Amino acid sequence: ATPTTEATPTTSATPAPAVAPAASLRPFPAGFVLGAATAAYQIEGAAHEDGRRDSIWDTFSREPGAVLGGDTGDVACDHYHRYRDDVALMARLGLDSYRFSVSMARVVPDGHTVNAKGLDFYERLVDELLGAGVSPWLTLYHWDLPQALEDRGGWTARETVDRFTDYALAVHDRLGDRVRTWTTLNEPFCSAFLGYTAGVHAPGHTDPAAGLAAAHHLMLGHGQVVRALRDRDDSLSLGLTLNLTVADPVDPTDPRDVDAARRVDAQMNRVFLDPIFRGAYPSDLLEDVRGLGLERVVRDGDLAVISTPIDVLGVNYYQGEALSHRPHPDAPVTEAVTARPVRSPFPAADGVFRHPRPLATTAMGWEVQPEGLTRLLERVHAEYAAPAGTELYVTENGAAFADEPDGDGLVHDAARTAFLHDHLGAILDAVDAGVPVRGYFYWSLLDNYEWAWGYSQRFGIVRVDYDSQERTIKDSGHAYAAIIAARGLPG
Ligand code: NOJ
Repeated sequence: ATPTTEATPTTSATPAPAVAPAASLRPFPAGFVLGAATAAYQIEGAAHEDGRRDSIWDTFSREPGAVLGGDTGDVACDHYHRYRDDVALMARLGLDSYRFSVSMARVVPDGHTVNAKGLDFYERLVDELLGAGVSPWLTLYHWDLPQALEDRGGWTARETVDRFTDYALAVHDRLGDRVRTWTTLNEPFCSAFLGYTAGVHAPGHTDPAAGLAAAHHLMLGHGQVVRALRDRDDSLSLGLTLNLTVADPVDPTDPRDVDAARRVDAQMNRVFLDPIFRGAYPSDLLEDVRGLGLERVVRDGDLAVISTPIDVLGVNYYQGEALSHRPHPDAPVTEAVTARPVRSPFPAADGVFRHPRPLATTAMGWEVQPEGLTRLLERVHAEYAAPAGTELYVTENGAAFADEPDGDGLVHDAARTAFLHDHLGAILDAVDAGVPVRGYFYWSLLDNYEWAWGYSQRFGIVRVDYDSQERTIKDSGHAYAAIIAARGLPG
């Protein structure tokens, strides 16, 4: 129900107020940004248009067994051609901001030569957003490395850091006057460890040392780009997005479970947070990954670049996890749906086993645990963001459910509406506890290409019919629009 239309019982002759009393709405802090997110490869399609060439995801998705159903991003949501309609949808929903990514394979198809037509698209998109009153939040790298760079070693090669920096500057040349928030990387954990260690994401390698080298070079690229952009314009808001977890021991009284949780925290959270905010890899992580060659990759001065101060940290949160030193019979090593060989994403995976908990799960099998988000924000604020003066945003959070349209084409996705409501509530709990969270982006605006899961998983608040490319706002989208309009959470 839309809170603003609720009638208020009165005992006198006073007419009911036109808006609900404050008590029934939990307001967002002033200036809190409410938006939605997507990424280039997942929605754009037009994979071979206007000079775009293969990214590592084009190549990977064509490999037999790599992606469920053999799905590719060749057409996806055809957003490249339908961006005007999609921006109109955002305006209808009332989004304050739209988080999207620029495709590196569109802008520098061969890894270094700038393709003006690729930049033209993002200029059209940004102008459309600005015209619709939706503020653009730009991500430079959401996983689509030009295949030409992968052929020279990809993120395991130090050269890629300079190619990424040149690319970022080319995007800034074109959009620097219009876009205020620039995030370098989306989820470097996935690029490095799902891509080079677990083998479930492009480029599909299963090498622990390669994952570590990739993580270091990704962070170096991040730091170098932040420096370069800040040199050009110190009024920009600069940062990156990390996918962080809440790692709980299955048995907090068993030191072996506590250590399993520590290892996951080290390899998923602190491996990025510490270099970026403290200029050093955590000593326990270095101990865990000894023998995997990280010391041969890190050069003098790298950590100073990586720890260049950032203005914004985006936190992507989907679920926490319970860890044990003992395997669980029902838990796979990864969430891979691939028929290819896979391993754990963690370079030092010994004695680390995830245990399912008695929680509701989404269609991805992910546990629904909103209170984990409150704890995560409190911790990241206290230990990293507050000391650095960095603003915190939730740049992704969302859920896939197997929703289908009814006979009238409407999607009654009550579980997603509840998920959205409960996670926004968890953010407000963190705000109440003193964490100045600045905004939230639901993942995703549209149903789209869910990487190794292809089109089988639907995260959107807007349904996409992949045959007709028709878009339908789901019930959760209408609920989100009402929350945005009310600037508060009902109930
Ligand atoms: C993480 C990624 O940034 C995004 O690309 C992905 O689709 C969602 N989370 C859901 O898995």
